[in-house]
Amino acid sequence: MLSFFNHKKVSITTLFSNEFVDIHSHLLPSIDDGSKSMDETIALLIKMHSFGIQNFITTPHIMEGVWENAKDTILPKLTAVKKELIARNLTDISIHAAAEYMLDSNFNILLEQRQLLPLKENKILVEMSYINPPVNLYEILFNIQIAGYQPVLAHPERYLFFHKKYKEYSKLKEAGCLFQLNLLSLSNYYGKDTHKIALQLLKDNLIDFVGTDTHNKRHLSYLESIDNPKILKLIAPIIKNNAEFK
Ligand SMILES: [Fe+2]
Repeated sequence: MLSFFNHKKVSITTLFSNEFVDIHSHLLPSIDDGSKSMDETIALLIKMHSFGIQNFITTPHIMEGVWENAKDTILPKLTAVKKELIARNLTDISIHAAAEYMLDSNFNILLEQRQLLPLKENKILVEMSYINPPVNLYEILFNIQIAGYQPVLAHPERYLFFHKKYKEYSKLKEAGCLFQLNLLSLSNYYGKDTHKIALQLLKDNLIDFVGTDTHNKRHLSYLESIDNPKILKLIAPIIKNNAEFK
């Protein structure tokens, strides 16, 4: 029988197998609000690797007027990180790059030109403003799909304007959107309301994939702290879905 003292909490990090792919992070150095240097990038990768995460599709922001990234800023940074990993003998870490696209007018141009960096095959990671959704959100989602892409909405639980319009989540799913939950929403990092909606979306089977959305070391401390057994049980099957990106 287990004694009282053996009831040590198990961290979410125990759920990361070598099949797991983290499909949302900001790990390329000095390209957005994520890692600020190559040393920081490597330190974040080493820490995440210690959590059992071996595969990364990192996703710098592409946001008009804020983070003006494109293939020509992202891909050379990826090459530099890959070289650094080899130089440091960290060959166990596999890293690719895509992007987290803000649904703005620049996005529409890239979409027309079919110039998007997918996570894998035709899946693209998209986000919207935290203040309000685009007025023509459903038209954009439709255009994404007729262009041959499948939208994966980053952190649906973080859009506060949907919290009181909970039915909107099912509408988005019916409109062809896949949902990527931020694992940090399972901690209190983004606050109580986001945490509550994250759990509700999981219980309602609306979440397809997860991501860490790692920008810095602080995020990783919060990630490691997630240890509620009921929450781990809810998230475990969704974490497995991420193997699809390997
Ligand atoms: Fe992000």
